[in-house]
Amino acid sequence: MELLKLNTSKSGVAFSEDLKQSAMAANSLLHSGKGAGNDFLGWVNLPSSIDKEQFDAINACAATLREKADVVICIGIGGSYLGAKAVLDAMSNPFELLHTEHKNPIVLFAGQNISEDYTAELLAATKNHSIATIVISKSGTTTEPAIAFRIIKEEIEKRYGKEEAKSRIVAITDKARGALKTLATDEGYTTFVIPDNVGGRFSVLTPVGLLPLAVGGVDIEKLVAGAAAMEAATAEGVAFEDNLAAQYAAARYALYTSGKKIEILGSYEPKLQNINEWWKQLYGESEGKDGKGIFPASVTLTADLHSMGQYIQEGERSMFETIISVEKPAYEVKVEADEANLDGLNFLAGKRLHEINKMAELGVQLAHIDGGVPNIRIEIPTIGEEAIGALLYFFEKACGISGYLIEVNPFNQPGVEAYKKNMFALLDKPGYEAESAAIKARL
Ligand code: PA5
Repeated sequence: MELLKLNTSKSGVAFSEDLKQSAMAANSLLHSGKGAGNDFLGWVNLPSSIDKEQFDAINACAATLREKADVVICIGIGGSYLGAKAVLDAMSNPFELLHTEHKNPIVLFAGQNISEDYTAELLAATKNHSIATIVISKSGTTTEPAIAFRIIKEEIEKRYGKEEAKSRIVAITDKARGALKTLATDEGYTTFVIPDNVGGRFSVLTPVGLLPLAVGGVDIEKLVAGAAAMEAATAEGVAFEDNLAAQYAAARYALYTSGKKIEILGSYEPKLQNINEWWKQLYGESEGKDGKGIFPASVTLTADLHSMGQYIQEGERSMFETIISVEKPAYEVKVEADEANLDGLNFLAGKRLHEINKMAELGVQLAHIDGGVPNIRIEIPTIGEEAIGALLYFFEKACGISGYLIEVNPFNQPGVEAYKKNMFALLDKPGYEAESAAIKARL
C-alpha cells in the first residue's frame, strides 16, 4: 500500500531541469549538513533511528499515566503542542467524550494560551477526574507553558500530596538546560529529552509528540514506521521523479516565484483540521523571514466553502491550494431514498457520503483551477498511523527543501522574540526596566 501520492498535474507547474536540480541540491544540503541552520538537522534521520528501547520507555511511561489518570493534561505551546494535538485529533473519534466508556484517557491541552477563562474551566472540568500532566518545553523557559505548569503542578500537589504528585508529572525538555530541567531534576520527575538538534516544530516524532500520543492510544511504532518509510523514499540520491518531498517543494517554489504568495492547505476530513495547524507553524516559522516566504493558510472543507469559498474563487489571485485527499473512510454511511423526496435528494439515494464528498472535492478543484487557483493534491489511503506518519515526515522534508530554495535558514525563528520582549517589559520583568518605561509610553 502506497502511503502517500502527490499529484501536481493541476498546479500548472512544469518542472524544468533547473528547478529539479535546485530541489535535489536543497535536499542534499539537508543530508550533508552544509546548509544554514545545520545544527538543527536531527529530524532528518530521526524516524529510522528510534530504537526499541526508546519506544519501550515511552510506552511504559504512557502505561503508568494511563493507569493513574483518566485525564492527562499536556502542557506546551508551538512545536511543543501542535504535533501531538494534530495527530491525536486525526486518530481520535471527535465524539469520544459522549461515550460513557473511555478506552483511553482523555488528553487535554494547556499552556498554549494564557487565557484565565480557559484555565479556570479546565481546572473546573477536571475536578472530579483523576489527573496527571506532561509538561513539554524544549527551552524550559517559555512563559505560557511555565505559567500553566505552575498552576497545574499546584493542583496536583494539593490533591495528591507532593510525593504522589511526582509520579503524576512527566517533563519533556532539554537534557541539561532551562528552568524546567532544573525543576524536574530537583523534584525527581520522570523526564524525556528533546534532542539538541531537533527544533520545536520538527519535534513531533520525539517524545514531545510520541508520549502524549501513546497516552492517547495512538500506535506510535506504526506512526514512526510510516515516517521512516517516507524518510527512505525522500533520502538523498532518490531521483526527483520519485522524491515526492522534492516535487512538492519545487511546485511550491515555482508557484511562489510566479506570484502565488499564499498556500491554502485543506482537507475534506475534519479530523485533519489540526494537521493544518501543525503545518502552518512548520511552514510559517520556517519560511517566513528576511521578507520572504509563502503565507500558510488553511481551510476545512466543505465547511469553509461557505465562508472562504467566495474569496478563493474570485478574490485576489495570489494563492494556490494544496488538498490532503483521503482515499478510504473507516466507516460506511449511505443516503437512503425518501418516498416524499421533498428535498429533491433522491438522486443521491444509495450513494455513500464518501462518494458525494469526493465529487465535491473534484468539483471544487476544477472550479478553483478555473478561477485561477492552482491545485496540488496529496493523497493518503486512510487516516491511519502509518499514513499520518508518512505525511508528517513528507511535510518536514519538503519544508527543509523549501527553505533552502528561497534561501532562508528554515530552522530558526528570530521573529518570535519581538513579542516576548514587549510582553516582559509590560509586565515589569526584572531586567526590562528601560524597555518598560519606553513601551508603556507608547500605549
Ligand atoms: O518551533 C519552535 O521552536 C517554537 O514554536 C517552539 O516550539 C515554541 O516556542 C515552544 O518552545 P519551547 O518548547 O522551548 O517551550
